[in-house]
Amino acid sequence: MIKMFRLIILYAFLFLNIICYSQFKTSDNQNTKDKFINDLLLKMTLEEKIGQLNLPVTGDVVSGIKQNSGVVKKIMSGQVGGIFNLKGIQQIRALQEVAIEKSRLKIPLLVGMDVIHGYETGFPIPLGLSATWDLELIKSTAEMAAAEASADGINWTFSPMVDISRDPRWGRVAEGSGEDPYLGSEIAKAMVLGYQGDLSQPNQILSCVKHFALYGASEAGRDYNTVDMSKQRMYNEYLPPYKAAIDAGAGSIMAAFNDIDAVPATGNKWLLTDLLRNQWNFKGFVVSDYTGIPEMVNHGVGDLELSGALALNAGVDMDMVGEVFLNYCQKLLADKKITEDQINIACKRILSAKYDLGLFQNPYKYCDTNRAKKEIFTKEHRNFSKQVAKQSFVLLKNKNKVLPLKKSQTVAIIGPLANNAVNMPGTWSVAVKHDKSISVAQGMAEYLGNNANIVYAHGCNLVETAEEEKRYTPFGKTFTRDERDQHDMWEEATQIASTADVIIFAGGESAEMSGEASSRSQLSIPKIQLETLKKLKTLGKPIVLVLFTGRPLVLDWEYENLDAIINVWFPGTEAGLAIAEVLYGDYNPSGKLTMTFPKNEGQIPIYYAHKNTGRPLSGPWFQKFQSNYLDVDNNPLFPFGFGLSYTNFEYSNLKLSAPTLSLKDTLIATVTIENNGHHDGYEIVQLYTHDITRSLTPPIKELKGFLKIFLKKGQSKTIEFKIVEPMLRFYDNDLNYISESGDFELMIGTNSNKVLKTNFKLQH
Ligand code: BGC
Repeated sequence: MIKMFRLIILYAFLFLNIICYSQFKTSDNQNTKDKFINDLLLKMTLEEKIGQLNLPVTGDVVSGIKQNSGVVKKIMSGQVGGIFNLKGIQQIRALQEVAIEKSRLKIPLLVGMDVIHGYETGFPIPLGLSATWDLELIKSTAEMAAAEASADGINWTFSPMVDISRDPRWGRVAEGSGEDPYLGSEIAKAMVLGYQGDLSQPNQILSCVKHFALYGASEAGRDYNTVDMSKQRMYNEYLPPYKAAIDAGAGSIMAAFNDIDAVPATGNKWLLTDLLRNQWNFKGFVVSDYTGIPEMVNHGVGDLELSGALALNAGVDMDMVGEVFLNYCQKLLADKKITEDQINIACKRILSAKYDLGLFQNPYKYCDTNRAKKEIFTKEHRNFSKQVAKQSFVLLKNKNKVLPLKKSQTVAIIGPLANNAVNMPGTWSVAVKHDKSISVAQGMAEYLGNNANIVYAHGCNLVETAEEEKRYTPFGKTFTRDERDQHDMWEEATQIASTADVIIFAGGESAEMSGEASSRSQLSIPKIQLETLKKLKTLGKPIVLVLFTGRPLVLDWEYENLDAIINVWFPGTEAGLAIAEVLYGDYNPSGKLTMTFPKNEGQIPIYYAHKNTGRPLSGPWFQKFQSNYLDVDNNPLFPFGFGLSYTNFEYSNLKLSAPTLSLKDTLIATVTIENNGHHDGYEIVQLYTHDITRSLTPPIKELKGFLKIFLKKGQSKTIEFKIVEPMLRFYDNDLNYISESGDFELMIGTNSNKVLKTNFKLQH
């Protein structure tokens, strides 16, 4: 007994020692870092400190070095803290060498890039990635993107983009994770951990969460437009993903282009200091968006000089492209509009990020030319991209089980995106190898090999005129226009399709019809494509729409008239192969929408977690003096969380471990799911709650959990979710994060509209 007691004491002692040692070690590391940065700061001139706050874009650097181009001269004189969107290890190394060998204090550069969904190996666009609801998978894509980017000289990515959006007119929904704050937060966390889980490693890079804040709520879905919303909505619906990314350790954050409460985010002290630093305890640095500081002049809050002061006073540390800090900080200091202390603080934050990246120890940590040769766009990465792509596809309709296809069928592949590789990676794929991407036609041919029974016709161009097409391909031609008369193209397409058993139409948006500065007021697929589909429909053959899109579209005619619709977003480098494997049933579609698809544009903003209103429509549409429209019902075409499978999942037996939840205990919700169809497959089980009565009007349901499970055909599984009080909290109008006693509904189901329900009580 005494022996045992001694042993316990000994273990406790050892345990305490380990804890103290590791704490001591961390604070020791922190002290070393602080000392290093403070010593460096003492050596820096004011100009050099201001230089660290400057983030210019670069042109062709290798030839620029020979001519001592503007940026090279600036690096030499200590006027640059980092550069971005320069591709190629040689060029990057050359610039890092300038900083290390030719600048007075040898401070290494941050090297940024928009590595948004893959580097050279492209993954599905983020909205597609989110449709996998697979956090480990998403984290791995970020890890792989970081591994490739870091092998090519990049040490900082402008990702993840975590802006919640409920307006598909806004083209940048393609870059985010959709409409839901809970799912958005989980994905934000996964991405940050994927990029920078362990910055001591050479294959991990600094992340930058963006766009802070509320950028996804720009009025009327018009990019860069104003944002105005109540604080409670902000805190409950829009801010959680930024906070989640910060809590996961994001090293930097980007100020948004929009204004908030009539103050541009870039100059918004409440946002960048009170909230970000004081409430959230953010320790990294804040970078403006591209020319975000000078754009404050257009916002109408002052001239360039004042914009610089507003930005620094608000809490911006680094000026992307604007060079306002570079040009005005000295004068602002002389005029006492800013203080040297503020410059010191901003500079320290940037140096601290460089320190954390290990750049002071080894400025060439990310410039290993051997890695660049071996670790980018590998077979393994491409294969992984294909696996991810398959999981991102969302099957929206499958009448008479037209899918999966049979290899014995003759397939007509038609449409402007059928034989087009370069659009496959989608928007914001800066470094992706577009020309090596795999088109639908190529993927199908490769998949079927010698047995390929495929016929092909173009059918139509992306849009009717070349003039219009230019807007949708702003970075140069990505379509080879078919100059034939449209009627000849239709004749060819219908003739070819008439020889087939099934028609695959690959169409929708081009890569750049979504993304930045790609807002649309009408969300149909382009008219000429719709007309082509109508011609094909006259043949009476089954038609499958393989839909490319970066946003929810209005698909009313397609839904009524086509046999199957599979939304493949923009699947990345291996698009065609992934599509073929899903169309032929090697992989059973499992993706679920993370944004609601409206019936028409007038329903926007439309989202599942809406309020009930005082006059909810109960019963059939239309009812006078209830909250509904005269010309369309309130339902979306496809709700949040929706996605079909080749098999069928039946939900039953929803049970709760107790009728009441107290502050301290845990409720267990169980539900049985049976795969009673004819294919094995993944199902994404979704948990929602509804606070029936509370002091602030509650959403009719809110996602609180999900689980992706695999069931073999015929198999059934009982799964459980744990419900605890913090899951039921919300921000009240005084921004207290609280829960209130009362009745709750608990829902579990296959999408936000199809759930089993039960009730419980929360008792404080
Ligand atoms: C975008 C950012 C991007 C930056 C740098 C801006 O136009 O809004 O998302 O990171 O450019 O390329």
